[in-house]
Amino acid sequence: MATSLLLNSGHHIPSVGLGVYKSTPGEETYGAVLSALRLGYRHVDTAQVYGNEADVGRAVRDSGLPRDQVYVTSKLWRDAYGYDRALAAVQDSVRRSGLPYLDLVLLHCPGEPGPREGAWRALEEAVRQGLVRSIGVSNFSQAHLEKLSRTATIQPAVNQIEVHPFLQRRELVAYCQAAGIVVEAYSPLSKGHKLSDPRVAGVAARLGVTPAQVMIRWGLQHGMVSLPKSVNPDRQAVNLDVFGFALDEGAMAQLDGCEEGLVTGWDPVAHDPV
Ligand code: A2P
Repeated sequence: MATSLLLNSGHHIPSVGLGVYKSTPGEETYGAVLSALRLGYRHVDTAQVYGNEADVGRAVRDSGLPRDQVYVTSKLWRDAYGYDRALAAVQDSVRRSGLPYLDLVLLHCPGEPGPREGAWRALEEAVRQGLVRSIGVSNFSQAHLEKLSRTATIQPAVNQIEVHPFLQRRELVAYCQAAGIVVEAYSPLSKGHKLSDPRVAGVAARLGVTPAQVMIRWGLQHGMVSLPKSVNPDRQAVNLDVFGFALDEGAMAQLDGCEEGLVTGWDPVAHDPV
C-alpha cells in the first residue's frame, strides 16, 4: 500500500498523520511532534483552535527536515469566517507556524452560510498568494459540500471527519470519494474507547498486531488518510507501523460489521445549517 494519496490539488498527502488535538500547547505538543518526526512521521495535523500551531511549527523547523518533506495542516475556526477575517486568520496561522507556507488549510466546521463562502474565497486567495498549497474542509455533510461546490473555484481537496469502524459514515465517504475529495479520518482510534472491543482485539491477535494498528489500517484500506493522536513516542511508533501487514477480507468484513454510530466528536449533519 502506498504511504501517500494524491489530492485533487496535484499534491500528495502522507496517509498517516499525527493528530495534535488536545496536545497541550507548549512543551507537550513540541515534544510530541518532534518525537513523531524522528520516528518517521511526515504529516502533522493541527488547528487554530487547538492553540498549538506555534509548537508544531517550531518542532517542524527544529527537526532539521527540509520543509517540503513534512506535510502540515491547520484549520480556521468559525469565528474567523467571512473573507477579510479568514484571509487575516490564514496569514496569522502561517506566521505563528514560522513556516513559509502550510500544506493544507481547512474550514474546521461549516459555520454559517455567507461567512462560510467568504472564508472559502479567502482560502482560494491564500492558495493564489502561495501561503497554502491545498485547501479543504472538516466536519462537512454532503449537503454542505454540494452547496460549497456550486460557488467554489477551487474544489475542496479533503473532508476531515470522524471515521472508525464504529462510525463509518459510508454514504458521506462514498460521496466524497466519488467527487475526488479525500476523506481524512480523525479519531481513527475512537479516542481509545473501542481498542478493547473483542472483534478488534480478535483481528489484532490473529494478525499479530495491536488493536490500534487494526483500526488505522482499516481506514487506510478504505482509501482514507488516518490521523491518530498520541503524545507518547511508543504509541506513536506503533500507530505509524501499519504498512507491513494487511487486513484480509475476513478481517475487513468483521470490522465493517462494527458500525454503531458512535460519535465521539462532531456530527456534520446535526450541527450548522446548510
Ligand atoms: P496518548 O496520547 O496518551 O497516546 P484518537 O486518535 O482516536 O483520537 O485516539 C487518541 C487517544 O488514544 C488518546 O487518548 C491516545 O492517548 C490514545 N492512543 C493513541 N495511540 C494509542 C495506541 N497505539 N494504543 C492505545 N492508545 C492509544
